[in-house]
Amino acid sequence: MSPHALLDIHLTEGDADRALRSDVRTGLTAEPKTLPPKWFYDARGSALFEEITALPEYYPTRTEAALLARSVDEIAVASGAETLVELGSGSSSKTRLLLDAFGRTGTLRRYVPQDVSESALRLAMDALAVEYPDLELHGVVGDFTMHLDRLPREGRRMVAFLGGTIGNLTRDERYAFLRQLRGVLEPGEQLLLGTGLVVDESVMVPAYDDAAGVTAEFNRNVLHVLNRELRADFDVEAFAHRALWDAENSWIEMRLVAQRAMTVHVAELDLTVEFAAGEEMRTEISTKFRPDGVAEALEECGFRVAQTWTDPDDRFSLTLGTAC
Ligand code: AVJ
Repeated sequence: MSPHALLDIHLTEGDADRALRSDVRTGLTAEPKTLPPKWFYDARGSALFEEITALPEYYPTRTEAALLARSVDEIAVASGAETLVELGSGSSSKTRLLLDAFGRTGTLRRYVPQDVSESALRLAMDALAVEYPDLELHGVVGDFTMHLDRLPREGRRMVAFLGGTIGNLTRDERYAFLRQLRGVLEPGEQLLLGTGLVVDESVMVPAYDDAAGVTAEFNRNVLHVLNRELRADFDVEAFAHRALWDAENSWIEMRLVAQRAMTVHVAELDLTVEFAAGEEMRTEISTKFRPDGVAEALEECGFRVAQTWTDPDDRFSLTLGTAC
């Protein structure tokens, strides 16, 4: 890494392994069974997600990217930040739009990408160090729900949380996350939040149940992760993918449906789990918002909405909130 780059590690492989064990034990012994979506993303799962973003049915990524492309200059002007923090930065692909826009306004000194994957972070930072030689890079390996208090504090910050990933949280988790984030920011610092909006069910559901079956593979991938990491013996192909719109909770839900009765052993946890034929296990929620729902959540958690940008089809929005 260049002399301009720093990397803080707040989440070691041991921490991740303990979290996986605890999540899986809790989820597989719960009624109904659940697994948290963060365990989709091993190398294969991350590659499958990249594939999803290019599917004709999966509109969120390209909608947000186009929206960001036409709004970045306004965002950079409205923000004036010195430090850009990006939660769940991954490959930092949308980041370049923001970095280029801040390059035009000239306020930004530092980029702080945060991600659970140290390897993804190192790759992204190595590329950025070459492309943006004057930018200070300070990577943080961490979990956005756990390590917000350890984000670097230098410079007036804008925290970007894009992709609609906040939708993976339940309402209570979302409010806890926003309050915690507000708690680590100084008044005047900002949050740029990307959120999927509620649109017609005939648009939302196929985005999570594509014709080519990539999302089904992505969903089942969590079972491959458990088989490998926890020496489980899931017959992965015996689980079918299901996506549904839950109007009451305003979220898309992904499930894995056992196609026959099964007994599964998770050797590393010394755990045996029974699945009934047709039993459904929830693997992800992806909340979609009404425009005032985003503003309401931000305001209840100590942010003032400075500006909102929405795509022409009202499918996705970017909201800039300022800590009060
Ligand atoms: C990466 C969490 C934003 O919820 O739309 C894509 C993940 N799941 N297809 C989403 C996902 C199924 C995605 N996020």
